[in-house]
Amino acid sequence: MSEHPPLPIARSVAALRQTVRGWRRQGLSVAFVPTMGALHEGHLTLVREADQRADRVVASVFVNPTQFAAHEDLGTYPRREAQDAELLAGAGCHLLFAPSVDEMYPEGFSTSVNVAGPSQGLETDFRPHFFGGVAVVVAKLLNQVQADVAVFGEKDYQQLLVVRRMARDLDIPTEIVGAPTERDRHGLALSSRNAYLSEAELAVARRLNGVLAEAAIKAADWRPLAAVEREAYAELLKIGFERVDYVAVRRAEDLAAFANGVVDAPARILAAAWLGKTRLIDNMAV
Ligand code: PAJ
Repeated sequence: MSEHPPLPIARSVAALRQTVRGWRRQGLSVAFVPTMGALHEGHLTLVREADQRADRVVASVFVNPTQFAAHEDLGTYPRREAQDAELLAGAGCHLLFAPSVDEMYPEGFSTSVNVAGPSQGLETDFRPHFFGGVAVVVAKLLNQVQADVAVFGEKDYQQLLVVRRMARDLDIPTEIVGAPTERDRHGLALSSRNAYLSEAELAVARRLNGVLAEAAIKAADWRPLAAVEREAYAELLKIGFERVDYVAVRRAEDLAAFANGVVDAPARILAAAWLGKTRLIDNMAV
């Protein structure tokens, strides 16, 4: 038996808006946490943060097809709504918004949202479709929920900056808040995709954050970034990553490269690397 009453689920935008309208009439503030489900402690930290910041919390679970390329894992992305609803209720969520693909993208859907700026480079060099899909679905979700605040994880640091830029540029009145990355006791950033890793791959994955932390120390010590990035790249291959998409030290504010080749403003180190069929990303402050 669950310790919580079952979490209400809205399947349509109309049902979502009806509930939120009711809260607004009572003068309650609203926070929002968008997800693709298969929830773990990282997602739940965002929900708890949302719960601190508003009277009511909406979470969405929607595996957004437009942010997956044809060769990616849309079909096999883990889906477990009943378990997600339990976890959300326990973390302080008041409403789950779980629309169908047809509800989000009815026939004739024709609009795209293109954010330049922070979406350039890094993830976009390897997943060119990705931020177009994220921007359109997050724009829709923010408009659908009309929350006071929405919480995103620093785990997906570039995504956080893209969403923040988009919300500013489109005058979406929801405040975009970033929350720190939740890790396992070995430092591996929690991710729904970690479930794809074998035991051997998991052991390698757990060393990613250590390599980044070491590189971050060198970068903070004014070492030339080209060398820092090259060494971290080589180290990731050496410890067992099969392929490294990027390791880069960038300005924390907008992900621009450091023109002088050394860290002379707040910085972030970001990486993406492959173990078998699984692509892992991580980042941390320098
Ligand atoms: P998803 O990967 O499910 O992540 C949902 C939110 O949880 C994102 O803001 C992500 O940064 C955050 N998150 C994931 N792992 C985390 C961790 N270990 N610690 C803290 N936060 C973590 O990101 C998406 O879904 C989608 O792109 C979405 C924004 C929902 C649009 O479809």
